[in-house]
Amino acid sequence: IETKIFNNSTVASKAVALEIADLIRVKQAQKQPCILGLATGSSPKGLYAELVRLHKEEGLSFKNVITFNLDEYYPMEPDSINSYVRFMKEQLFNHVDILPENYNIPDGTLSKDEIAEYCAGYEAKIEAYGGLDLQILGIGGNGHIGFNESGSLQNSKTRLVALDHITRVAASNDFLGLSNTPRTAITLGVKKIMEAKRVILFAWGEGKSNIIREAVEGQVTNRVPASFLQEHNNATFILDKEASSKLT
Ligand code: F6R
Repeated sequence: IETKIFNNSTVASKAVALEIADLIRVKQAQKQPCILGLATGSSPKGLYAELVRLHKEEGLSFKNVITFNLDEYYPMEPDSINSYVRFMKEQLFNHVDILPENYNIPDGTLSKDEIAEYCAGYEAKIEAYGGLDLQILGIGGNGHIGFNESGSLQNSKTRLVALDHITRVAASNDFLGLSNTPRTAITLGVKKIMEAKRVILFAWGEGKSNIIREAVEGQVTNRVPASFLQEHNNATFILDKEASSKLT
């Protein structure tokens, strides 16, 4: 894993936004779609803000951009205050010229018996585009990527998962208490993340420093799914000073 350490998350996010803008423009010049894997949570907010700025102030167009989000809570209505559909619209999609038919977020409204087929279709759609050009990730305190919690296999598929207690506690403020916090989610599997041509993982703050050390310098283990990225040939961890502080 390559690690890049920045003074703060704002400058780091701007640097990654420039890389993504370059990729979008290269694909535009080639008349190709640009296939992006996106994350929610606090870590990529600065990236999305900078992409919105590049659209509004520097003419970056998202007309050729196709996106696939990593995950969604299950069950979840798209217009609910805590849905990842709502998050993505508010942070990015409503402020750029992406076509509504070009963004994909796992559907939290399915009935249980529809999920397996839906997940296979989500992966098939990514494959039909030739795979993800770039996957954006955050990292959970337990080392999860997407909602691939501890114990997820390196070849895991897109599926319904049970959320770890630590993940639910981290989300419980948004849901006004643990008892209202979903117990399950649909997540892109580790396999599709590993197949992305490029992976960028963000981590900010002292609170992430221990898990960053484990993911970067520890054993490759399904206990820490982010450690699988040690075996990816084009993965970069973008860190602020605090998140990098435990690296040797
Ligand atoms: C979100 C996701 C999660 C988060 C992770 C870190 O789509 O897949 O893996 O990236 O929980 O969350 P934050 O960025 O809020 O610390």
